[in-house]
Amino acid sequence: MDNLLHNLGKSPVKEMRAVLVWDLFVRLFHWSLVILVLITGITGFLGEEWWLDYHVWAGYGIGGLIITRLIWGLVGSPYARFSSFVFSRAETLRFFKELLRGRPSHYTGHNPAGALMVFALVFVLISITVSGLIVLGGQENQGVLAGVVPYFVGEAFEEIHEVLAFLLLALIGGHIIGVFVESRLSGDNLVRSMVTGTKESASPDEIKHSKLKSAFVFLTVLVLIVSSGGWVYVALADLPPNGLVKMTANETYASECGDCHFAYHPSLLPANSWRKLMMGLGEHFGEDASLDKDISKGLSDWLQKYASEKWDTEAANNLRELDAKNPISITTTPYWKKRHGEIAKNVFARKSIGSKGNCIACHKDARSGRFDDQQISIPLYQKEKEI
Ligand code: HEC
Ligand code: HEC
Repeated sequence: MDNLLHNLGKSPVKEMRAVLVWDLFVRLFHWSLVILVLITGITGFLGEEWWLDYHVWAGYGIGGLIITRLIWGLVGSPYARFSSFVFSRAETLRFFKELLRGRPSHYTGHNPAGALMVFALVFVLISITVSGLIVLGGQENQGVLAGVVPYFVGEAFEEIHEVLAFLLLALIGGHIIGVFVESRLSGDNLVRSMVTGTKESASPDEIKHSKLKSAFVFLTVLVLIVSSGGWVYVALADLPPNGLVKMTANETYASECGDCHFAYHPSLLPANSWRKLMMGLGEHFGEDASLDKDISKGLSDWLQKYASEKWDTEAANNLRELDAKNPISITTTPYWKKRHGEIAKNVFARKSIGSKGNCIACHKDARSGRFDDQQISIPLYQKEKEI
């Protein structure tokens, strides 16, 4: 009956006919994944810090796609199921031996080499997505895991995330080479197959599946996953980021210490530095910034209470290493110098910025002490003022 339906309306003359191998779900999955991986690759390897949002959202997209693909691998059309391309070790070895001789057996779906590649890609993509979430939560205090991952864990996973990204690049290279080799050997244009879904060389009694149904299932599963992911996200992202401290605003600090320059967030220096700085206000970077004793004591206590030791943000963690010669300065710390080393001197001199210490000019969230990547923006050259 299936065969009968299958043959209806088809020309009986051709022996070989195009057979649908990759259902619409698999094709939509494949090309959506290509686009999202391209976006994460470009934003991750080449992008500026403030492109982080695009990187992260493409990453969430990849996670969603992988989950839908895992489900489709269990319940999808025959060639999409993992069970159709799990091969024994013996069969895999035999295939590779044949491949070396240049005459591999023909498989309609994935051959053993292609199957290994699919599993490797899925495994690496899952690992990259999870490690990315850990970096985002730990290092940036953002995303689903912001409330649970400490900074040092995020930092450690950044290395892992990077190594995995290079591994993915290598796998993608291998995958593309594999596709071209198999296209040569089998006579099928595999790239076109992944667009049309059909292969010419398949035997005629292959299974036919409804394109409409698989597109419908793709969309339904994707919507379900995105929405349930949304709920998990909302629930988890509701947790306060564990690196941030609840701090009451201090009007006195803002007015007394925000007069000559940006009122630096307490998390930018350790308690000991604040103590030293507050004791030497009479000779403060060449200025007399001395204050009434009580006010000075109050501010000193407040600064020490919320000093960098209390925070688990990227800025606080990294700025703890001080410049030995000038332990009350932020802009001479090794980390600050490293992160701002590529910014030309005359950029800081712009009227719209003024000095290195004017964090708020380039970091829109400097008042919160977060220094999120997405909040960085260097004010442009202001012609009329600078002439
Ligand atoms: C009379 C002006 C004046 C006042 C008031 C003042 N400062 Fe400063 N402060 C300076 C100058 C000048 C510098 C040198 C760096 C610069 O040019 O921005 C500086 C630098 C600093 C730095 C180092 C910044 C860096 O570049 O690493 C910190 C931290 C600092 N001040 C904290 C404070 C605190 C806390 C208070 C309030 C108790 C305060 N300042 C009040 C003039 C002032
Ligand atoms: C001229 C603009 C400018 C000023 C002023 C400036 N920054 Fe930055 N900052 C940047 C840029 C651009 C980056 C990103 C550099 C990179 O690509 O790594 C950055 C990166 C950082 C980072 C790392 C952020 C992250 O998540 O990767 C921290 C922390 C930071 N700045 C703190 C400060 C502090 C504290 C001050 C003030 C004392 C300051 N910056 C002043 C432009 C500026």
